[in-house]
Amino acid sequence: MTKSTNPWWSPWREVDGATILHVDLSPDAEREARALSLLDDDEEARWRRFLSERARREYALCRAALRVSLCDRLGCEDRALSFGYGEHGKPFARINGACVEIGFNVSHSGRLGLIVIAAHDGIGVDVEERVAQRDLEGIGSLVYGPAERQLLAAAAGREKVHLFYRLWSMKEALIKAIGAGFSLSPSRFEIPEAMQRGDRTGSFRFPHAPESEWRLLDLGEPRFAAALAYRLPSQSSGS
Ligand SMILES: CC(C)(COP(=O)(O)OP(=O)(O)OC[C@H]1O[C@@H](n2cnc3c(N)ncnc32)[C@H](O)[C@@H]1OP(=O)(O)O)[C@@H](O)C(=O)NCCC(=O)NCCS
Repeated sequence: MTKSTNPWWSPWREVDGATILHVDLSPDAEREARALSLLDDDEEARWRRFLSERARREYALCRAALRVSLCDRLGCEDRALSFGYGEHGKPFARINGACVEIGFNVSHSGRLGLIVIAAHDGIGVDVEERVAQRDLEGIGSLVYGPAERQLLAAAAGREKVHLFYRLWSMKEALIKAIGAGFSLSPSRFEIPEAMQRGDRTGSFRFPHAPESEWRLLDLGEPRFAAALAYRLPSQSSGS
C-alpha cells in the first residue's frame, strides 16, 4: 500500500468512554478512490448526487473511515454493514440487515472531519472551521437565543469569531445527538449559561423535551471549534 492510501483517520480523543477519530479530508485522489471502493451501492449513488467535488470528497472519506472503524468495533465484514436513516436523516448501523446497538456520529467542515463511536445511540458531534469573514451577527440573530445574541454582540474581533463557533458547535452537537437536525430551530434553546461564558462541560435539557438530560462538552482547540453531546442514562431506568 502506498503512503497516501494509509488510513486518513486517526484517534483524536477518548471522552467519557466514547472514541473520537480525526479524519483528514485534504484532496487526495488515491484515498478518494480507495474510499469509494468501500461504499455500498446506495452510498455510491448518494456520492454521485453531490454537485461539488468537495462535498463528494467529504462524504466519501468520512463514510469510508466510519465503515472501517465500525466494522473493526463490531467485528463484521464491510459488505455486511449497511446504514438506515431516522426521520431527520440520522444514520444508524445494520449488520446483515439487522439493527445493532452502537452509537456514532460524523461531522465534516472543510479539510477536517470528526467521527465519534460509543456504546449507545443518542450521541452527536460537531466540528467547525472558524471562518472569520461571515456575517456572524446576522447569522447569530437567526440561530441564537436572546442571552447568546447579547453575548455575541458584546464580543469583538477574534473573540467574537471564537464565541460564534463555540456556541454553534455546541448547538449542532445537541441537535445531532437528539437526531432532529435543523427540523429543530437552534434558536429554540440556549446553551447553559455557564458554558456560554466559558465552562467546557455541563448538562442540558431541551425545553421541548425536558425528560432527557444531556451531557455537553466543548472540545474546541486552536485549529477548530468542536463539541460532543450525549444522552445521560435516565435515573429511573437503572441502566
Ligand atoms: C444534521 C444536520 C444538522 C448536519 O448538518 P451539516 O452542516 O451537514 O453538518 P455535519 O457535517 O456536522 O454533519 C453531517 C453528518 O451528520 C449526520 N447526520 C445527518 N442527519 C443527521 C441527523 N438528523 N442527526 C444527526 N446526525 C445526522 C450524517 O452522518 C452527516 O454526514 P454524511 O451525510 O456524510 O453521512 C443537517 O444536515 C440536517 O438538519 N439534516 C436533517 C435534514 C432533514 O431534516 N431531513 C428531513 C428528512 S430526510
